Amino acid sequence: IEKSEFIQEIIRRNPSCIPERYLRSEEDKAKDVDMSALAADIPVLDLSLLSNGSKEELQKLDNACKDWGFFQVTNHGITAEVLQGTKKAAAEFFNLPIQEKTKYLFRPEFRQGYGQPFPVAEDERLDWSDSLLLFLDPSQNRCPELWPATPPEFKGAVEAYSAGVRKITEELFGCLSLIMGLEKDALLGLHEEMRTLMRMNYYPLCCRHDQVLGLNSHTDVCTITILMQDDDVTGLQIRYNGGWVPVKPLPNSLIVNVGDILEIWSNGKYKSIEHRAVTSETRERISVGLFFSPHTAVEIEPLEDILATQKCGRKYKKVKYGDYLKGAIQRRQQGKEHILKF
Ligand code: SIN
Ligand code: FE2
Repeated sequence: IEKSEFIQEIIRRNPSCIPERYLRSEEDKAKDVDMSALAADIPVLDLSLLSNGSKEELQKLDNACKDWGFFQVTNHGITAEVLQGTKKAAAEFFNLPIQEKTKYLFRPEFRQGYGQPFPVAEDERLDWSDSLLLFLDPSQNRCPELWPATPPEFKGAVEAYSAGVRKITEELFGCLSLIMGLEKDALLGLHEEMRTLMRMNYYPLCCRHDQVLGLNSHTDVCTITILMQDDDVTGLQIRYNGGWVPVKPLPNSLIVNVGDILEIWSNGKYKSIEHRAVTSETRERISVGLFFSPHTAVEIEPLEDILATQKCGRKYKKVKYGDYLKGAIQRRQQGKEHILKF
């Protein structure tokens, strides 16, 4: 089912309207456990120390991926101007009149564009957000006609930003390979031809923010995700010990999380953690996620070198990445566990 309404438009017409299909059930809300007291414990890593091979920082990376599956990175080398350029391009795009934005309407055959990226079931609760999905790499996956022409800076801003993020990802893959006991270029090599997908999210204000979710709880079906969010609005929450911990953005930092594929490769040593986004009564919010994943033909399974260091045995089945992606949508609709465990 394609999403025909955009929440931003519903709110433009009537800021106090909350359509039924966006309302969370009482049962769902009752499960929320607030663990905001732990927000300060989410690890913060200094990428320049990691790049210089600091043993201490590498150990912090290992712990962050094991204990939290999430961390923030500072000193990542992307300038504030480049970060700002992409935030501004996203804000200007979402601010356009709907007639302009629907020129870039989501195309299911390319799985890109503006609108609802996943098919939703009749009875599924909708997310209080609109998004724009675009494949960035490899370039043959790009759909140039779905790249906004307004603002005119959009393409240049996204390209500058994603080139910087790709470098960070390659650096992190190098560090992760080392702490997993592999050759430095092993993880990058496993991707064969690394794919980058960008998702820009716009979360309008919500007058009853406790009644809706900006983005339903999920895990990311990629190797790692690098997320940029506004510096001064908190929205992302991560699952920890049965509760939800908000990620408080540090100025000019980026958020990194472990995706399902890294969990499988590491045979569960690193965790792809459930997360979600909440909305605010007073502030709209924008986030931009870049998802890095292998070529769809790559067979994913726990790595032999990792298995040799563990006693627990193989925890995940072998699966072709393309099949994993297809299955993920079904598993999500059926509320099943996200990863193919034995
Ligand atoms: C995401 O999980 O893809 C984005 C979450 C956010 O907007 O913080
Ligand atoms: Fe996510």
